[in-house]
Amino acid sequence: MNESLTKIRQDFDRIALHDQEAWDHNRHYHGFLLKQLPSQCQTALDIGCGTGEFSRLLSKRFERVVAIDLSSNMIEVAKQRSSQFSNIDFQVTDVLHWELVAEQFDVIISIATLHHLPVGSLLSNLKTALKPGGRLIILDLLEHESWRDQLSDFVAVPLNWLLQSLHNRHIQPSLEAVAAMREHLRTDEYLTLSQARTIYSTAMGKAKLRKHLFWRYSVVWEKPRAAQQPQDVLTIERCSS
Ligand SMILES: C[S@@+](CC[C@H](N)C(=O)[O-])C[C@H]1O[C@@H](n2cnc3c(N)ncnc32)[C@H](O)[C@@H]1O
Repeated sequence: MNESLTKIRQDFDRIALHDQEAWDHNRHYHGFLLKQLPSQCQTALDIGCGTGEFSRLLSKRFERVVAIDLSSNMIEVAKQRSSQFSNIDFQVTDVLHWELVAEQFDVIISIATLHHLPVGSLLSNLKTALKPGGRLIILDLLEHESWRDQLSDFVAVPLNWLLQSLHNRHIQPSLEAVAAMREHLRTDEYLTLSQARTIYSTAMGKAKLRKHLFWRYSVVWEKPRAAQQPQDVLTIERCSS
């Protein structure tokens, strides 16, 4: 394991110990992500599943969910919270060193994890691991790059404050929880929308990239059923939420 991967694992091992199931910007988009799932679903892979909240939502729609995470503490918490969900297979794994079998999954999803990984090379493995007609669904963090991003903060910042106050009013994070998150954010880096556009259009051809209000982008890509000419078209939408 290289040094940065070691740090990421240590950061999330520490963060996992203080998780209070609070509302956050990733959870805000769970409903949107569920709407992107295909209707016929058997097997899903959740990469960087954390404490497994989205894996549990997936388990209601899929026969089998494989949920992997680098952090053993995250997987430990996820297992404790998922005792009622017998169709989730939680594994402590680094996705970069995990052997992805070809055409294995109907859906591969990853939330707030890809910024820790070399996205371009990982995407080609994920494409292979999807069944024909399968779907790749990504939600990740986004770096500001233009005045339009600054402008959207005039809506995002107060709305974020309001939703935090409503959803998390009973939650008082400990000093250690705040310190653990601060330490992690110190080294976190995100793509800009232009960088994401270039990486995904190069790797996926036709994919749907959306920019979301709470400092996130999403990508939805469907693997062609039969051999098709790649179309270098990336559809970009700006979402209002
Ligand atoms: C910000 S958390 C997001 C967790 C969860 N998806 C959610 O939405 O709450 C990112 C997760 O990715 C995991 N992760 C980072 N690098 C990874 C890797 N190479 N392989 C597997 N998991 C990884 C971390 O351990 C962490 O739990």
